[in-house]
Amino acid sequence: MKIIRSIKQMQRVSRELASEGKKIGLVPTMGFLHEGHLSLIRRAKKLSDVVITSIFVNPTQFAPDEDLARYPRDEKGDIRKIDKAGGDIVFIPKAADMYPDEFQTYVTVEGITQTFEGESRPTHFRGVTTIVAKLFNITQPDIAVFGQKDYQQAVVLKKMVTDLDYPIRMVIAPTVREKDGLAMSSRNKYFTPDQRKETVCLYRALTGARKMVKNEKIYGTAVLRRKMKKIIKEICPVAEIDYIAFTDYDTLKPVKEVNRNTICSLAVRLHGVRLIDNMRFY
Ligand code: PAJ
Repeated sequence: MKIIRSIKQMQRVSRELASEGKKIGLVPTMGFLHEGHLSLIRRAKKLSDVVITSIFVNPTQFAPDEDLARYPRDEKGDIRKIDKAGGDIVFIPKAADMYPDEFQTYVTVEGITQTFEGESRPTHFRGVTTIVAKLFNITQPDIAVFGQKDYQQAVVLKKMVTDLDYPIRMVIAPTVREKDGLAMSSRNKYFTPDQRKETVCLYRALTGARKMVKNEKIYGTAVLRRKMKKIIKEICPVAEIDYIAFTDYDTLKPVKEVNRNTICSLAVRLHGVRLIDNMRFY
């Protein structure tokens, strides 16, 4: 497996691969990899000839009061895991190369970045779209794989690809979960074992609502939201619910009644850590 740290070299290698007719798959990550990330690499491997996994903790998507400085890192472990998952190239650029002092260009998707995650984290998506646009320009992928776990991010990035005419197939892969249902996340390591037990409240709320939709045919989102809040508070009394949203899967427009194209997403702050999750009910 090849490790590339220079932007110029990565561009050169991608151009060579394309000229050999190789299909390039890209999996962007911020490292500290878990099974969720590795599932994306395996998916990319099935869909392309050469998989590039990028590791870059992107400073522009963190607000000043967020966890950039303490975001977990494990470069050696990550490289080993990517190799085992069948990755071909790991791209690990330096922050000073990606964002030199004179950097002044940002890519912004409007509209759908203003709600939900965008409301709590107003500068977040601008950072995500800017770095992913840069990674696309550097690696020139044919396909790129992202996780359903960060559902709004996936929708925003798909919009960027459509609006800016990137010739890239966007693949959204399912959320990989721990045994108790908690969606895997690099941030899960912030919890003590006792706190960790309470993090199951997001999954329980989602599956509780799904049950009401499927078994009891309750479609009203106000009733479902109330039930979800109750489940969360019962499992974790200190939980602060940021939002519980029922929206159209493609447009992110809120809906009053759950239908086949509805997705439920939520963000909850537990013991100082903000977790997100989502689920479709059909
Ligand atoms: P990061 O949080 O490292 O996630 C990298 C990719 O892994 C994203 O596409 C994310 O949705 C996916 N992922 C995370 N947890 C997952 C899980 N449990 N199951 C399946 N996929 C999962 O998301 C980012 O980094 C950054 O915003 C990035 C896109 C790399 C831009 O900096």
